[in-house]
This record gives sequence, C-alpha cells and structure tokens, in this order.
Amino acid sequence: MTQDVYLTGITTTGTPHIGNYVGAIRPGIAASKDPATEHFYFLADYHSLAKNEDPDRIVQSTLEIAASWMALGLDTERAYFYRQSDIPEIPELTWILTGMTAKGLMNRAHSYKASVQANVESGNKDPDKAVTMALYSYPILMAADILMFKSTKVPVGRDQKQHVEMARDIAQRFNHHYGETFVLPEPVIGENTAVLKGLDGRKMSKSYNNAIPLFADEKRLRKLVMKIKTNSLEPGEPKDTSDSTLFDIYKAFATDDEVAAIEKRYAEGIAWGEMKQVLFEYINDHIKPARDEYERLISDAAIVEAELQKGAVKARELAAPFLAQIRDAIGIRKLG
Ligand code: TRP
Repeated sequence: MTQDVYLTGITTTGTPHIGNYVGAIRPGIAASKDPATEHFYFLADYHSLAKNEDPDRIVQSTLEIAASWMALGLDTERAYFYRQSDIPEIPELTWILTGMTAKGLMNRAHSYKASVQANVESGNKDPDKAVTMALYSYPILMAADILMFKSTKVPVGRDQKQHVEMARDIAQRFNHHYGETFVLPEPVIGENTAVLKGLDGRKMSKSYNNAIPLFADEKRLRKLVMKIKTNSLEPGEPKDTSDSTLFDIYKAFATDDEVAAIEKRYAEGIAWGEMKQVLFEYINDHIKPARDEYERLISDAAIVEAELQKGAVKARELAAPFLAQIRDAIGIRKLG
C-alpha cells in the first residue's frame, strides 16, 4: 500500500478563530506527527481572489494564518508548508485542467449556484451579477492544488466536499484522455472534530461575526467570553450542558476528567458568570504559550516569510518535475 498523502488548504481571508483551531489546526498538527502519512498545508491566497478581498486583508490574513500554524508547533521540517502563489506550477496546472473540465460541472458547483440563487431572489436581471470567473472556476484551481501533490486524502468541511469530488472527476477525465497521470483524491469529513458555536450560539464563523480570535489578547479574550450567550437560569438552578455554548467550548479544550467535573458543577447550578470566568481562564492558560510565540512571529514577519520560502522550495521540487511530465503528456513540449 502506498502511504496516504493529506492536503489541507486554508483560504487567506480571515483571522484564525478558536473554531478553526479546534476544527482544523489542532487536528491538522496532531495528524502531521504520524510518520505513516505525508502532509501538505498551504495558504490558498489565489483562492482568496474569488472573494474580491482587499489586498491588505489578504497579506494580513496570510501572516496571521501562517504564524498561527507555526506558533502551535507545526513541524515544518516534516510537513510541506507553503503559500499557493509561490508555486507557479499550480496556476499552470489550473489552466491545463481547465481544458479537461466540463462547463456543466462548474455550473453545478454549490458556491456558484448559491450566488446565482441570491441574484434571482433579489430580483436581479442578470443571474450572474458579480460572479467573477475566479468564483466560477474556483473548483479547478482547487483541483490543481490537490492533484499537483498526488493527494489521496483531503480533510475538508462539508461545504468543500463537492470540490474534492470535482477534482476527482477532472482527474478521471484527464487520465482517461491522456493516460494514467493523477492520483484520485478522496474527501475526508471530520465526523468527530468539534464544530464550535460562536458568541451568539450559531456556528462560529467569520461571516456571522460571532468568532473568538484564537490569539486575541487577554483583555479581549475575557471580554468576548463574557459576551457568550447563555439562558436566564439563576445561580443555584441546575443547568443543562447539552444546550450550552460555554460548555461546548470548554469541552473542546479540556480533558475528560475536567469535563466531568464541570458537568457536576452544571448539575449543582454553577452561575453563568462563574462559568464564564472558568472558561476564560482555561482557554487563556491553554493558549498563552502559543500566543507569546504568535506575537513574536507577527512582529517579525520575515521569520514567517523565510519559512514559507523554504516550504516553497520543497514543494516545487515535487511540482516542477510532475508538471513537466504533465506538459509532455498533453503535447506541450519542445520540438525536435
Ligand atoms: N476552498 C477551501 C476552503 O475555502 C480552501 C482550499 C483551497 C483547499 N484549495 C484547497 C482545501 C485544496 C483543500 C484542498 O476552505
């Protein structure tokens, strides 16, 4: 059996929050320690263009995401850690794959369909209003990310599963047409990774504006934890853990024994104010060492940049010869 190759892309549009940490960063770093597998983690900065992000926001987000993974201990010697735009072979492969992608396949992408739907619902004459080709072709760029490094497993959230399946379809069509070239990837949906709720009790997400930034400073972290929505039960009244954002977040950080102790305190009627204090202290203690390192990296971006450059060299050692093979297969070659 060949060993599994895991690949994870992170779009550079936001500031990492504790939901990203629990759902993607922490399991990603833990998985990268498994010597039986190979891991690729990259900053999908070309993907961020599909959302028309502000340039300064993209740079800042790139720095924050890269510094977060580094501060939390990603082993960049073992794993491949790079920025998509440092690998010119990726956009080149994107165009090659565009030739093997049915337009109808892209018409069916959920993200594109959602934009069209929104236009139709708001009575726009043009259903494609504000849809760029970057948004429309987004799955092809993602296919290039995945296929370039012969990924077998792609851990993604449910919203991205279809894109991995499209990468597989595109690879199959290419292989059929030009001969066996690409490895077929599979999406991996983290069934047991926690999805954290945000301040208002909905899923924690940048777009809901309900997120707690992973490395918020102590003062801000306290303020945000104090804002987490609770019900109106009084101190002393028994409380239900199954319907408590405070409890869910605590559980995502604490050990089983600690969780059991808190369950007991819920049953005894712990006051919400006190539970907020417990949660704040817990997260703060847990995050503090990494936060200190994060702050050091953020204030010296050259360290982060050097790491990304090292990662790009490593990644290109794989990408360049593979792309040469692909170009040859499709008849883009030197004459004579
Ligand atoms: N589209 C993914 C997201 O928004 C990010 C991404 C880009 C990605 N390329 C990828 C994820 C390749 C997995 C594999 O979350």
